[in-house]
Amino acid sequence: MNLMELNKIAVAMAAPGKGILAADESSGTIKKRFDSIGVESTEDNRRDYREMLFRTEEAMRNAISGVILFDETIRQNAADGTPLVQLINDAGAIPGIKVDKGAKDLAGAPGEKVTEGLDGLRERLNEYYELGARFAKWRAVIDINGDDIPSGYCIATNVHALARYAALCQEANIVPIVEPEVLMDGDHDIDRCYDVTEFTLKSLFDELYAQDVALEGTVLKPNMVISGKKNANRASVSEVAEKTVRCFRAAVPAALPSIVFLSGGQSDEEATAHLNAMNAEYADKMPWALSFSYGRALQAAPLKAWSGKTENIPAAQAAFAHRAAMNGLATTGEWSDGLEKAA
Ligand code: 13P
Repeated sequence: MNLMELNKIAVAMAAPGKGILAADESSGTIKKRFDSIGVESTEDNRRDYREMLFRTEEAMRNAISGVILFDETIRQNAADGTPLVQLINDAGAIPGIKVDKGAKDLAGAPGEKVTEGLDGLRERLNEYYELGARFAKWRAVIDINGDDIPSGYCIATNVHALARYAALCQEANIVPIVEPEVLMDGDHDIDRCYDVTEFTLKSLFDELYAQDVALEGTVLKPNMVISGKKNANRASVSEVAEKTVRCFRAAVPAALPSIVFLSGGQSDEEATAHLNAMNAEYADKMPWALSFSYGRALQAAPLKAWSGKTENIPAAQAAFAHRAAMNGLATTGEWSDGLEKAA
């Protein structure tokens, strides 16, 4: 492991003004996204859509530090034969790869999941490095929408797997993004999300320590501390910012260079406003850079604008460039509602 190199990449992933485009939807998820715009999920359509994003110069050069790819995409060429990985590198961004095999039912724990994909991972990571990946992602899912969940068993098995994955990544000179996502599904209040997120993060960092993962070469991708989607009195932007920063200060070691949030079903503007509020109000209280690794909150607008039609590409690229720029501003606390509306 070359820790200096890993640290350089982990820092670059959340460089000021930049964050990550999560374009690693699995085959099932991208089909759902395409269904919503009435486009068939064929290999060519998936390629055309993602190529369009990676060719959005303005977004990629100015506001995107890296792109998370799915296994199919890291092997794909653009329509003109250029590898998609090369398009990303040429734009000055870092290619990354989703390596987990998805969240599966956890044995003996109804309603809970554990993420699979450790078998053969060492060999797959070596291949992904050859294909150009310099960071990876593994997502664990913690559902809190029920009376008796999450169980300690669910959190323990998921963070154990996250640490095993992270150690293997570092051995392969790939920066691990560790993503323990506490879901927004349900009507819980923000304090319940706080408690579960704090417990999950503390458990995760215990396990990373136990398995000798170097935090200097690791990136955390967490949920924000936020009310459930169906909560009748959802917490304000300033409360989300205050509680998220408080929770992380209690649970995330200072050695970690970068935290990049998932959007998790927040609206585009909510995801931007929350990130902005944290950086605008608490920058001097945080030892880590705080940025984004959004899937839906970066892609919902361009996906809709594109709708599978070549003539819509300029409008879709403009929509992507706009969301990327707004989130880029949020990484330094310079976003405002006025800038959002002025576009
Ligand atoms: P969302 O931002 O849509 O939650 O996706 C981010 C991601 O990569 C989830 O693993």
